Amino acid sequence: MTPRTTTVAIVGAGPAGLVLAHVLHRAGIAVTVHERQSRAAVESAARAGVLEHRVVEYLRALGLADRLTAEGERHGRCEITCLGENVLVDYGVLSGGVRHWVYPQQLLLRDLIAGYERDGGAIAFERPVRSVTADADGRPVLDTADGPLRAEYAIGCDGAHSVVAAAFPDGDTGPGRRYPYDWLTVLARISRPVEQIRYAVHADGFAGMMPRTADVGRFYLEVPADEDPAGWDERRIRAELGRRLELGGEDPALGALLETGMLRMRGRVAHRMRAGRLLLAGDAAHTVTPSGAKGLNSAVADAADLAACLLAELLDGDPTGLDGYQRRRLDAAWQTQEFSDQLLDLLHLPAGLPPAQREFALRLRLERIRRIAAPGPEGAAFALAYAGAGELPLPAMWPSAQGAAVATGATGR
Ligand code: PHB
Repeated sequence: MTPRTTTVAIVGAGPAGLVLAHVLHRAGIAVTVHERQSRAAVESAARAGVLEHRVVEYLRALGLADRLTAEGERHGRCEITCLGENVLVDYGVLSGGVRHWVYPQQLLLRDLIAGYERDGGAIAFERPVRSVTADADGRPVLDTADGPLRAEYAIGCDGAHSVVAAAFPDGDTGPGRRYPYDWLTVLARISRPVEQIRYAVHADGFAGMMPRTADVGRFYLEVPADEDPAGWDERRIRAELGRRLELGGEDPALGALLETGMLRMRGRVAHRMRAGRLLLAGDAAHTVTPSGAKGLNSAVADAADLAACLLAELLDGDPTGLDGYQRRRLDAAWQTQEFSDQLLDLLHLPAGLPPAQREFALRLRLERIRRIAAPGPEGAAFALAYAGAGELPLPAMWPSAQGAAVATGATGR
C-alpha cells in the first residue's frame, strides 16, 4: 500500500494535540490527527476544569475562547481549612490581578474540535496509531488503522502511554514518584455553585471541593495508595466529604453522585521530549498529579511552544526554536512538578504519622497556609504560579501577535 503523506502527524486529540493542530492548520501546514477514542468519549470525559490565565489569553488570541469566556467563570480565591481555621487565599489580589477561569475540560475539547473542523480540519477518531517507525531517510512512518502514514514530524500528544514516546530509541521514561496516597474523585450534583476551591487539610486526610458548573462540583478525598474503591460506598463518601470539608451553612449541599473514580497519584518527567523528527507534548512527556490543576495547562503550554517553533522551521527554515523546545519545556515541566509537589506536601500529612503527632504536623501546615495567604514575596510567588501568570508564545505570523491586541487579563473579563 502506498503510504499516505502529511507534514505533521499528531497522535492524540486532547488539549495539546488539538491546539497544535489548530495553529498549524490555520497557517496552511498539512496536518493529520489520529485519536484512539471516539468523538463522544473525548467530548464527554469530565476531568480538569481550572484553566490558567496565560492559557486562556492564548486561546483568546487564537479565537478559541468565545464560549469559554462567555460561559466560564473567573476565580481568584481559594480557601484552605486546617485545625478549624478557614484561611482565604486571595490569589487574584496577591498576584496583582492574575486569576483562573473555570470551564470544564470536556466543553473546552468540544470547542477546540468545533473550531478545528470549522476551519476545514479533520480528526480521525477511533483510528489509533499502533506504532511509529522510521523510513530509510529517517522520516516517521505511523502504522494506523487506515494504513501507513508518512510524515515530516510525528508529535505524541497521546498521554502517558504514548506510542510516539515508545518509538524513542532508548525506551527511557524518566524519573518518577509514586505518592503514598491516592485521591478518590467524585463528580456530584450540588445545590449551588462552588464559589471557590476549598482545600481541607485534615488529621484523617486531605479533602477538596472544586468548581465546575452551576450545579456540578468535583470533590477529592485522600485515601491510602492502591485503595480498593469497593470499600467506599456512597454513604461513606458523603460522610467523609462532609466531615473533612466541614460542609454546612452556606456551602453547596451534595446531590446525586454522578461519577466516582480513583486517581493514582504519581509524578514523572521524561528525560527527552525530542528524538529527531519525533516530539512529545503534555502527558506523553510528563505526568503531574492533579494538585494545583497543572496537567491540562502545561499540555497547552507545550503545544503553544511547539506550534510556534514548528511553524518557524516549516515556513521560514529556522530550526533554532525547535532545537530549544526540549530544554524549555523540560525546565517548565520540572517547575510545574515542584509546584504540584509542594502543594501536595502542604495538603497531606506525612505517611504513617502516628495520631498523637498529627496536631503538630497540622499546626506547622497552618503556619505555611497563613504565609501563602499573606501579602509578601511568598504569597505573591504562590499566587503567580498558581493562577498561571505570564504568556504563551504566539507564532510570529499570527495576526494578534503583531500588535498589542492581546488582552492582559488583569482588567475586565
Ligand atoms: C480541580 O479543579 O480538579 C483542581 C483544582 C485545583 C487543585 C486540584 C484540583 O489544586
